[in-house]
Amino acid sequence: MILIDGKKIAAELREELKIEVSELKSKYNKIPGLTVILIGDMAPSQIYVRMKEKAANEVGLKSEVLRYPGEVEEKTILDKIEELNKDNSVSGILVQLPLPKHIDKQKVIESILPSKDVDGFHPMNVGNLSSGYESSIPCTPLGCYLLIKKIEPNLNGKKAVIVGRSNLNGKPMTQLLLKENCTVTITHSKTKDLKGECLKGDIIVAAVGMPELVKGDWVKKDAIVIDVGINKTEKGIVGDVAFDEVSKVAKALTPVPGGVGPMTIACLLKNTIECFKRSN
Ligand code: GUN
Repeated sequence: MILIDGKKIAAELREELKIEVSELKSKYNKIPGLTVILIGDMAPSQIYVRMKEKAANEVGLKSEVLRYPGEVEEKTILDKIEELNKDNSVSGILVQLPLPKHIDKQKVIESILPSKDVDGFHPMNVGNLSSGYESSIPCTPLGCYLLIKKIEPNLNGKKAVIVGRSNLNGKPMTQLLLKENCTVTITHSKTKDLKGECLKGDIIVAAVGMPELVKGDWVKKDAIVIDVGINKTEKGIVGDVAFDEVSKVAKALTPVPGGVGPMTIACLLKNTIECFKRSN
């Protein structure tokens, strides 16, 4: 079984991006900039944002984190985004989710200029991705896609089963795999015979947030299995895939942690650079 080393593959991607940033710097005499807005003091968001900032600095991007208390007014955030939209030194804007309940998530997402939307959450980018046009691609599915392509460059006609239909992962993942000529099934909490559906997959992407949901006998021999889950349990952090069981049947499997997570962050940097290039 191939243990898909997301940490190593992400480090290689960051090395490539670092070189690209220095080339862009000589070409344009400026560097891509990423601004992250973090609202409130939720521990996971704090950790993710710190990792994003560190990675951005490591590849030589200009990075800035704007922190606001959980009670901040929605208008303060929308005004700041408007200012960042106009700021030429800012290539990409990311508002860390989840947001406090009094702030309208969709309104915030739609206030970001689509050309600076490094998350690919703006309806314009969502639409462009599903129509096959150039767009920002959400970082987590993009990271999963790059890992799958490392293992199997030719996905023509492969059967992919996606567990979870979220806007963050499941839906954009579908678009990326469709573009590669996969036959894609999206499953979710109301799917009948989830195990039977998973068993048909040459590729399984599990992104539901249910600890160790995908069992060894749900996986076809030699399938590629990508585990997006990060679940806190009594025995520590586990994914959506029962790792020990599935590792006995799969051809390749991502660990948690050290699989998809590092790729998500590297893809955010990649998206920031793409936004910079498109705007120059
Ligand atoms: N929170 C968890 N994942 C993400 C992500 O990919 N982007 C943003 N903005 N917030 C998140």
